Amino acid sequence: MDRRDFIGRGLLGAAFGMVAGSASALSATPDEIEGPFYPVFAQKDRDFDLTRIEGKQGVASGRVIFIQGQVLDTDGQPVEEAIVDLWQANAEGRYRHPRDGNPAPLDPYFQGWAIVLSGRDGAFRFKTIFPGAYPASRTWMRPPHIHFKVNKPGYAELVTQMYFPGEALNASDLLLQRKDEHERQLMIASKIQGDPESYEYKIVLKKVPVAEV
Ligand SMILES: [Fe+2]
Repeated sequence: MDRRDFIGRGLLGAAFGMVAGSASALSATPDEIEGPFYPVFAQKDRDFDLTRIEGKQGVASGRVIFIQGQVLDTDGQPVEEAIVDLWQANAEGRYRHPRDGNPAPLDPYFQGWAIVLSGRDGAFRFKTIFPGAYPASRTWMRPPHIHFKVNKPGYAELVTQMYFPGEALNASDLLLQRKDEHERQLMIASKIQGDPESYEYKIVLKKVPVAEV
């Protein structure tokens, strides 16, 4: 849909009192497996800046990037105060996790894990290091990706993985290639103008009926 189309539909929606959910319906972000490396160490610093660890003097190695986004529901409404829990490998492709057998070095200054809350308009952002690719088996290299687990009461928990545009390894990834083309587009962030390098990523949650207490 081009911009004029989008504006046209918006005006139509307004003119007809917005048929609930139809004009602005979004596809939910596809699920993906959690993978074996959800953080298990107690870690105090889980703030939005993964490039530093509170109390340490150094800075994580690698390419600094910003990721900004918005949590929405499938009607296109912003979701405030969603818990956005994310974790990733360091620049060398290594997780701080006891089960990660990758011989690539740990980075003592890389936070690796963050929990941020979406704001009033569903917005969130974090600063991190471009994650390294890593071997999942002898014949399978995982492309750079960031794991997400997103929660908010009244919505289905979303566990997924976010990918980067233009990465050659995306085309041979056994997980990403299980998805259809539309799903893949929803899972790959968009590069946006920005210095440092910046990406935008939308997270769309499904509502679930809240049980009466
Ligand atoms: Fe991973």
